[in-house]
Amino acid sequence: MSKEYNIAVIPGDGTGPEVVAEGVKVLETVADISGFSFKFTYYRLGGDHYKATGEILSDETIESLATSDAICLGAIGHPDVRPGILEKGILLKLRFHFDQYVNLRPVKLYEGVDTPLKDKGPADIDFVVVRENTEGLYAGAGGYLKRGTPDEVAVQESINTRKGVERCLRYAFEYCRKRNRRKKLTLCGKTNVLTFAFDLWERAFYEVAKEYPDIETDYAHVDAICMWMVKNPEWFDVIVTDNMFGDIITDLAAMIQGGMGIAAGANINPDGVSMFEPIGGSAPKYTGKGIINPIAAISSAQLMLETLGEEKAASFIESAVIKVLRDDLKNVGAGKMGFTTGEVGDLVADYIQKNS
Ligand code: IPM
Ligand code: MN
Repeated sequence: MSKEYNIAVIPGDGTGPEVVAEGVKVLETVADISGFSFKFTYYRLGGDHYKATGEILSDETIESLATSDAICLGAIGHPDVRPGILEKGILLKLRFHFDQYVNLRPVKLYEGVDTPLKDKGPADIDFVVVRENTEGLYAGAGGYLKRGTPDEVAVQESINTRKGVERCLRYAFEYCRKRNRRKKLTLCGKTNVLTFAFDLWERAFYEVAKEYPDIETDYAHVDAICMWMVKNPEWFDVIVTDNMFGDIITDLAAMIQGGMGIAAGANINPDGVSMFEPIGGSAPKYTGKGIINPIAAISSAQLMLETLGEEKAASFIESAVIKVLRDDLKNVGAGKMGFTTGEVGDLVADYIQKNS
């Protein structure tokens, strides 16, 4: 019997369900021609579910998700739910629970997509950010003293464990080697000010680097990375960094690759259950209109196939995305594509069907 993958689907909030549907459509098309199949199980999680039931994410749901081969997520975030509740209660909880210690964000400017960077094109913007995804400022360490009084103190600590940092670095070195492009890994830190946390990162980086003599090592402070990403994005091949810096620089990176409609992300536990998501969020103002760009969700499905080891099937998706962005879409922005969300999914699926 051919291989069947169990995929948990969390459509979530806002435009999440619309874009996830296109990711699933494309996955089904790819499976048809690739000799494997998917069993999709849907989970109702997110702001609407929380408002209706008071439940954020139950232990039973987590147990059930744990039986899947991978998770496809649409978006989490609701205009009527206080910031932090759903993000911490669902998204971060899943990342932490499943120990998805790498947040992988490819940054690639495809032909036919506009970048706000003057004089830069697809040859200049093609790198990957490996963001540590379970520690740092996101670990939730800290607290208050005398909250709500004039003497209030709030402390939020960045947790950096040697093990946590090292496994992320190793992933980045391996990824850089496998990617086999410039073979250059840039550590993004702040060693001039965060002299404890990034001292650990830096020492671990150069120690691990000894095992990868084929990879060129490079270091830049996070503020300088922001500058170079705009001025000379062609310098980067793979960037590795901590959770908070990774969060910030990947939004900047998403903009230079054409915006949130394009940017895909993966939360990876190489030995466990990984989760794939478009990084654009729930986009409440576009919800239900069928005008949001599903390419980020489709590309995150591609990342899922790569992570599952279905490289060939993944490459079918990328070829189709390249074609549709180059020849068909008028623009990548919501409402400006010249097609509906569903039609863009159809274009990708049709191309795969006819050309793979
Ligand atoms: C992201 C998002 C999340 C993060 C939020 C929604 C918690 O911004 O995936 O980058 O900060 O990691
Ligand atoms: Mn972010």
